[in-house]
Amino acid sequence: MSQSYDILLRHGRLLHPNQPSEVVDVAIADGKIAAVASQLDQPARPARLEFDLQGQIISPPFVESHIHLDSALTAGEPRWNQSGTLFEGIEIWRDRKQSLTLEDVKERAIATLKQQAMQGVLFVRSHADVSEKNLIALKGLLEVRDLVKDWMTLQVVAFPQDGVYGNPQNESLMEEALKLGADAVGGIPHYELTHEDGVRSVHRIFELAEQYDRLVDIHCDEIDDDQARFLEVVIACAIRSSMGSRVTASHTTAFGSYNNAYAFKLMGFLQHTCINFIANPLINITLQGRTDTYPKRRGVTRVKELWQQGQNVSLGHDCIQDPWYSLGTGNMLNVASMAAHVCQMTGTSEIDACYNMVTWNGAKTLHIEDQYGLEVGKPANLIVLDAENRYEAIRRQATVSYVISQGKLIASTEPPSPQWKLG
Ligand code: FE2
Repeated sequence: MSQSYDILLRHGRLLHPNQPSEVVDVAIADGKIAAVASQLDQPARPARLEFDLQGQIISPPFVESHIHLDSALTAGEPRWNQSGTLFEGIEIWRDRKQSLTLEDVKERAIATLKQQAMQGVLFVRSHADVSEKNLIALKGLLEVRDLVKDWMTLQVVAFPQDGVYGNPQNESLMEEALKLGADAVGGIPHYELTHEDGVRSVHRIFELAEQYDRLVDIHCDEIDDDQARFLEVVIACAIRSSMGSRVTASHTTAFGSYNNAYAFKLMGFLQHTCINFIANPLINITLQGRTDTYPKRRGVTRVKELWQQGQNVSLGHDCIQDPWYSLGTGNMLNVASMAAHVCQMTGTSEIDACYNMVTWNGAKTLHIEDQYGLEVGKPANLIVLDAENRYEAIRRQATVSYVISQGKLIASTEPPSPQWKLG
C-alpha cells in the first residue's frame, strides 16, 4: 500500500560519491528519506509538495567544514586590511573584538548561516575565538547552535586566536570553553610565541580533547614558512592517541612550501593515521605569498596529493567579509571551483572530487556520517541543483533550486533565465 508523503521529488538525478548518478523519485515523510526508486507509485493522498525536477541533481547538502562566524560580516570594522596579510587581520580583529556583544555575534552569525543555508549548506563547523576574556564569541555561537538547530547543524570549535600561551589566561579560557560545551578543541601553533610553545600547545590540545571527549581541529602551519613543522606534531599525537579520524588539520599551507623529501616523509607517516585535512583555497590564495616577489606561491596545501593518497580532504570558506577576507558569499561551489583551479584538479574525476570535498568529505571531517547521506531512513537533508552532474554544477556555479532540511523545504531559488533580445 502506498503511503502519504510530505515531499515527493520526481525525476531527480541522485548523486553517489563514487558511482554514476541515477534518475529516481525521492519521497520524504516525517523528516526522513522514506523511499527512493526509479518510479514511485502515486501515493494514496497527494504529497503536500511535489516537484518534477526534470533531471536536476539531488545531492546531499553542502558541508562548510571551516568558517569563523564570530568575525563574519565585519569587514572594514574598525578598518580595512590594507596589507592583505594574516597578521594584519589578527591585529584588526583584536581591536574589533573589544566591542563584541552577544547580540552582535548572534545577529551576524545567524545572518551568515541563513545566507549559507539558502545556498544549500546545512552543516557548518565554525571556530569561535576563545582568547577574549569574557568568551563572548563562544557563548554567542553556542546560543546560535541551539537557535538554528531545526534547520542547521552547527559545530563550534574553541579556537585560541592569540595562542594557547600567547596570554596567561588563554589556557584556562580554552578549558572553560569546553566546559561550556564547545564541540572541538582548536589551536594555532604557528602563532605561538616560540616553536616550543607551539609544540606544547598541540600536546595540550590533545590532552583536553581526550579529557573532555571532543574532536580536534587545529589551524596548523597557516604560513608560508617552509620550516613550520607543527603538522608532524599533530600527526604524531594522532597516531599515539589513536584519535585518528577525530582529528583535523586545517589550512596546512606550509605543506605546499615544504621540500619534497620532507613532504614525502610526512605522506608516509599519514598512512599510519586517518586525520582529516581542510583546505581553504579562496582565502589562502589571497593571504599567502604576500612576502613573495616572483614566482608567488599558491599558498594552498597539497590537496591533490593528499586526495590521491586517500586522505580525507574537505574544503572551507574560512571567512566571509571579515578582517582576513573581505569577499565571500558562502557559496560552496565557489570554494570547489577555486580548489579545482588552485590545486590544478581539472581532470573529470578531479572535478568530481572537488565536489565531494564540499559534501561527503566534509561530513566525514565533522564526524556526522551517521546523519548524512541520501539513503532511505536518513534524516531528509538534501538539495536540488540546477545542473545535470558535478562538473556542470561547478563549471556553471549552478543555482541551488531547493533546500530541504530535516524534511522541510526551507529555501528555493529560481535559476536565472537570461533572454537574448537581438532577433
Ligand atoms: Fe580559519
